[in-house]
Amino acid sequence: MATTIQVTDLNQGYGKTTVLSDINLTVTAGEILALIGPSGAGKTTLVSTIMGMLRPKSGTVRVLDTAVPNRALLAKIGYMAQTDALYTTLTARENLHFFGTMMGVPRAQQDQQMAHAAAVVNLDHDLDKAVADYSGGMKRRLSLAIALLADPPLLILDEPTVGIDPELRQQIWQELHRLADAGKTILLTTHVMEDAEEADELMMIRGGVAIAQGTPAKLLAEYQVPTIEDVFLKAGRVQDAHTRND
Ligand SMILES: Nc1ncnc2c1ncn2[C@@H]1O[C@H](COP(=O)(O)OP(=O)(O)OP(=O)(O)O)[C@@H](O)[C@H]1O
Ligand SMILES: [Mg+2]
Repeated sequence: MATTIQVTDLNQGYGKTTVLSDINLTVTAGEILALIGPSGAGKTTLVSTIMGMLRPKSGTVRVLDTAVPNRALLAKIGYMAQTDALYTTLTARENLHFFGTMMGVPRAQQDQQMAHAAAVVNLDHDLDKAVADYSGGMKRRLSLAIALLADPPLLILDEPTVGIDPELRQQIWQELHRLADAGKTILLTTHVMEDAEEADELMMIRGGVAIAQGTPAKLLAEYQVPTIEDVFLKAGRVQDAHTRND
């Protein structure tokens, strides 16, 4: 399968602080990779670097066979930032139209794609409300609908399931699996182990270091534990032991 994202020997940080150390990551077409780790682990920093919003301190990032940063790439990525970037004085429908036009969705397809994206996140009945009157979870769902709108080959979703109830979470996962089956690549971040269990590939990140990587089945076998959460905890203890020995 074609490689969609290739991160090689990445070191990243802000000013003199190091936030990510020696990250190597490959995501292939049709695959869902979840970056899982606690708050402050470096997930958003990694996603922002893959998007080309932060220049690596060292190492390289390639997306869809193109070196990052590259302006043309942005049209091929459905990006959902951790912080919603919505026009709160506009309605949800107006936001969808605006971003659809920005992302070059042809006018003739906009209504149909909007309806589909809104249905995936259960916002079909709330599209004419001003976003200012939306709850936090509704704003997350609208941001996800915007990321899906242009039907891009790559989705990069930073905490897409925050503030989303279990039933809708399942519906969203169904859609993500459908997209992956159709050959799209999906990179997402999460704190939640339930999300990790849905992904094809995992990268567990703690303190800016990838402590475990692979398919859920491979990790369960390698660490000989019953759950993905246990893999994370065990890999964390291994990391702590190494750090103490350094
Ligand atoms: N713009 C910034 N300037 C300086 N330090 C930053 C900046 N953004 C993040 N950091 C630091 O980098 C580290 C990793 O932050 P990051 O946002 O990547 O973590 P995260 O895994 O996404 O956390 P969360 O789950 O809370 O979103 C943290 O220690 C954070 O304080
Ligand atoms: Mg984050």
